Amino acid sequence: MSDAPADDAAAAGAATAAFAERFGAAPEGVWAAPGRVNVIGEHTDYNGGSVLPVALPHTVRAAAARRDDGRLVLVSAQHPGEDADVAVADLTPGTPGGWAGYPAGVVEQVREAAAGGLSLLVDGDVPAGAGLSSSAALECAAALAVRDLLGLDWGPDDLVDVARRAENDFVGAPTGILDQSASVLCTAGHALHLDTRDRSWDQVPLDLEAAGLALLVVDSGTTHSHAESGYGERRRQCEEAARRLGVEYLCDLPGTDALAALDDGTDEGAVLLRRARHVVTEDARVAEVVGLLRAGADPRETGPVLTAGHASLRYDFEVSVPELDAVVEAALAAGAYGARMVGGGFGGSAVALVDAGAVEAVSAAVAERAGAPRSYVVVPAAGARRLR
Ligand code: GLA
Repeated sequence: MSDAPADDAAAAGAATAAFAERFGAAPEGVWAAPGRVNVIGEHTDYNGGSVLPVALPHTVRAAAARRDDGRLVLVSAQHPGEDADVAVADLTPGTPGGWAGYPAGVVEQVREAAAGGLSLLVDGDVPAGAGLSSSAALECAAALAVRDLLGLDWGPDDLVDVARRAENDFVGAPTGILDQSASVLCTAGHALHLDTRDRSWDQVPLDLEAAGLALLVVDSGTTHSHAESGYGERRRQCEEAARRLGVEYLCDLPGTDALAALDDGTDEGAVLLRRARHVVTEDARVAEVVGLLRAGADPRETGPVLTAGHASLRYDFEVSVPELDAVVEAALAAGAYGARMVGGGFGGSAVALVDAGAVEAVSAAVAERAGAPRSYVVVPAAGARRLR
């Protein structure tokens, strides 16, 4: 990943120039949406729980213009030679596939309004396959472009829903709303505290620099092939555990006491108990971190909560992998206050909370001892926006 994300003016200029070269005229606008990293609250978003993501300074940009031939033409600077050119009327889940499915899944939801067609050129610097939600950034940038160009009356929650439906219904990945909510709702200098059940949210100030700290994101460089199937399986297990306990969502449970009922002496019951225990304790960890930050505590105090979150994902939810465990262990051994894998799991990235003065030492340690050469400091950045 490029350590330095493009600034908005340069990014807008580059996307405009690339669009003009490809389509022979300037775009009607350029929109940007960021990737995200979740501070705490993993696999709670489809269980009625809370999450606490920050937006990355890295974004996906969409330069777009309306057409009059009824076609949707999608071009990506990151995927040369993988353009899509389809009639809007022919859009159907899965077609087009690949990277183009994400923006196409947005347009498919407004087929009538978009009947004239659209040209969309995508450019970005959110690393793909690193668990940092490059696909949500792509969906959200496309959703903003579609909203503005077609004059649609979409508020922030509508943008989140449109982007999530593109992922769930068109691409076919059964995710929750964490990634799209982070991309749309985050603000600079804050973490987004979102209750995924009632969709209420507030912005929690997160100025780590002032505390002499840094949030280090470490890309493990691995994505395991069973990431998608593993995610779907975890989701089904959570739903089954909730069903057996008679609640709509696992996070409706008041605490871990009620979980004992899942242990019916079978292997399956034991697995469901572990999955549910991760979800319920993870939701409590979100509340704990938010409580500490809101009370003005030293953010270092959140470190052990993050590390406990990793242990829970590793042993109870079983979505970590040796590469991520190695990153977490190396970061802690090099002095991090806390560290954990982020995102869906089975590869991707980890975060570590470190002293600002220790960034280089921890980066070197994870590179040497965990084979993860790409790490960089993240300062909470702005959510999706129009650049021009
Ligand atoms: C992926 C999904 C999100 C969320 C996380 C785990 O990023 O897209 O909806 O479930 O995994 O917290």
